Amino acid sequence: MKNFTFYNPTRIHFGKGQIAKLTTELPADARILMTYGGGSIMKNGVYEQVMKAVGNRHLVEFGGIEPNPRYETLMKAVEVVREQKLDYLLAVGGGSVVDGTKFIAAAVDYQGDPWDFCTRGVQSKSALPIGVVLTLAATGSEMNAGGVITREEFKSKRAFGNPLVFPRFSVLDPETTFSLPPRQVANGIVDAFVHTTEQYLTFPAEAPLQDRQAEGILATLIEEGSKAMEQNPDYDNRATLMWSATQALNGLIGMGVPHDWATHMIGHELTALHGLDHAVTLAIVWPGVMRVMKEEKRSKLLQFAERVWEIAEGSEDERIEKGIALTDDFFRSLEMKTRLSEHQIGSASIDLIVSRLENSGMKKLGERGTITPEKVKEILTERL
Ligand code: NZQ
Ligand code: ZN
Repeated sequence: MKNFTFYNPTRIHFGKGQIAKLTTELPADARILMTYGGGSIMKNGVYEQVMKAVGNRHLVEFGGIEPNPRYETLMKAVEVVREQKLDYLLAVGGGSVVDGTKFIAAAVDYQGDPWDFCTRGVQSKSALPIGVVLTLAATGSEMNAGGVITREEFKSKRAFGNPLVFPRFSVLDPETTFSLPPRQVANGIVDAFVHTTEQYLTFPAEAPLQDRQAEGILATLIEEGSKAMEQNPDYDNRATLMWSATQALNGLIGMGVPHDWATHMIGHELTALHGLDHAVTLAIVWPGVMRVMKEEKRSKLLQFAERVWEIAEGSEDERIEKGIALTDDFFRSLEMKTRLSEHQIGSASIDLIVSRLENSGMKKLGERGTITPEKVKEILTERL
């Protein structure tokens, strides 16, 4: 197990009716910017609950944060915060709203172009406090210090991180996810699944606890994910999925172990170029990464097959392939199309993605830096 420092200051209020905790979490004299997306919160009762809890605090609403939040939109919110001297950000929505709000928080007092956070790893020295009311379980953004922003003019989707943008608190009320369409429920399950494998399916690191934690999340997502797609929203099922998604990317299972993240880096290019939902890109790419990087991942692929998919029979290669196939089948059972050709994406795009990754310096991806542009091409070709 490698050395690590674990820090996570976010207070979580989990469960039904917890939006009411905003009354005690938000400072009485806060001058709040409430951020949200396309309006789902106005249709599912979340907006009313938030307004009731905010009471007569000074609050300015900023809606229109897109899925795959746009830099161009967020910079408008930065202007509003600066002009109206707002001092607290309340994000109400899914991962895109939360990520966008983190970006706003860090950008307000930053003197340069905040796009630096995404391209040069610059971390602003200050950020406004953030509170979150989460309405989509997927990204773990409610309890981490990262985000992913799209700059439309460059057609670029890039990640940023800064410990100052951990939310002060996040409210996770599973009932808020009852209004999600099946596509978004499926997205959340797959995103959480691949967050977990990015931190687990690498190579043995003498971390049996982290392995078991990751395997527990994966097995739970498989069991509860299938239920969520078959039935009307069930509170405990959605509660388990919500907490699983948070656990998948709040930092804990990633402590002391190698990380991959190649699937995410390749996936971001697919979203930037073709507008595919983030999780859909992962469902396409991840089986290809497992197959093409089979030798490097052999030991953990066998452990994954045995402990998550309970495969005991067959040669090593047979067990590995079965584990990969069952993962692909699981994604497809969530109505995910896992082949590029099913999204009308052909080999011309593959060359473009490879060159874009190269141009942004991503030439050595994966836990050992061995996923080169040639490997990326092999991985995507395997997914045509
Ligand atoms: O905008 P509204 O109207 O709210 O509609 C949203 C949006 O259209 C809708 N939705 C959200 N909650 C709903 C709802 N519809 C009905 N009922 C509800 N309760 O769902 C759509 C998608 O929302 P979005 O926030 O984009 O989804 P998600 O939470 O999956 O976030 C995806 C974004 O997170 C980034 C992705 O790159 C993508 O931009 N990620 C953030 C990470 C992080 N911060 O750690 C890591 C992840 O790997 C991921 O990259
Ligand atoms: Zn993700």
